[in-house]
Amino acid sequence: MIPITLKAPAKINLTLDILSRRPDGYHDMRMVMQSVSLADTVTLCPASQGGVWAESGLGFLPRDGKNLAVSAALAFFAAAGVQPMDLRILLEKNIPVCAGTAGGSSDAAAVLRGLNDLTGAGLSPEALAKIGEQVGSDVPYCVLGGTKLAEGRGEILTALPDLPHCPIVLCKPAFNISTPVLFQAWDRQKKKLRPDTEGLMAALSAGDLAGVAQRVYNVFEAVLPSHQRREIDRIKNALIQAGALGAAMTGSGPTVFGLFDKEDRAQDATAHLREQYSEVFLTHPV
Ligand code: C5P
Repeated sequence: MIPITLKAPAKINLTLDILSRRPDGYHDMRMVMQSVSLADTVTLCPASQGGVWAESGLGFLPRDGKNLAVSAALAFFAAAGVQPMDLRILLEKNIPVCAGTAGGSSDAAAVLRGLNDLTGAGLSPEALAKIGEQVGSDVPYCVLGGTKLAEGRGEILTALPDLPHCPIVLCKPAFNISTPVLFQAWDRQKKKLRPDTEGLMAALSAGDLAGVAQRVYNVFEAVLPSHQRREIDRIKNALIQAGALGAAMTGSGPTVFGLFDKEDRAQDATAHLREQYSEVFLTHPV
């Protein structure tokens, strides 16, 4: 069998809202998700032995089942009713790691789509998304991509009108945030600010980019430790001053995004932020 190569796009959360903590320890979410052109490249190489493993240029990424790409392949073989194969998964990482941009989940989703083609299993995108649930909460969304409302743990997906085409600047500060720790901080928080998810979806329906951008909001921002929140706010302010129509943190962070209506302003913002941050990307909705 010949290798196949797929794109694995990053995602941003236009909104991230948490409705409640569930008995199983997870949280019920309400999030408007958007995939962007910044992408990893995932190549599936059928091997003659060795099981399933991942290789990337990043020495700290696991090569075994702790890597979501490998976990996705194993979940696919268990669920799809096809003969498991030995597989080398090559990950060309462009999406920042541990950044709230779903890089690992998107790699996993690309593996599910790729194995579906490679093995001829012929599963529907919805069936692949269902397999993805076992791999991680963002994987079902990453299988489908585009502009979606994600509810439940993240697996209940509703298609929304596309975000109008616009430049999007991503900036990842140097610190890392633990997702479970952020959820615990949200559990302890008394006063809970909420995004205007309905208003944002109405703005999407109207094709109103400014209306969307005014409503981007992530409830995790309010529960960050104060030194991290200050840095997130600094990046948001820099984006707004450079002409962004709105800015927010994505996922469990720490990446911040800004939505622009003018390409040249987004380019200037990218150049300006690169003076201070090493991981800054100019991207677009896909
Ligand atoms: O599903 P995933 O492995 O991405 O989740 C990582 C962690 O984030 C979970 O162990 C859980 O602590 C938290 N989480 C949650 N509710 C969700 C998604 C994730 O509490 N909907």
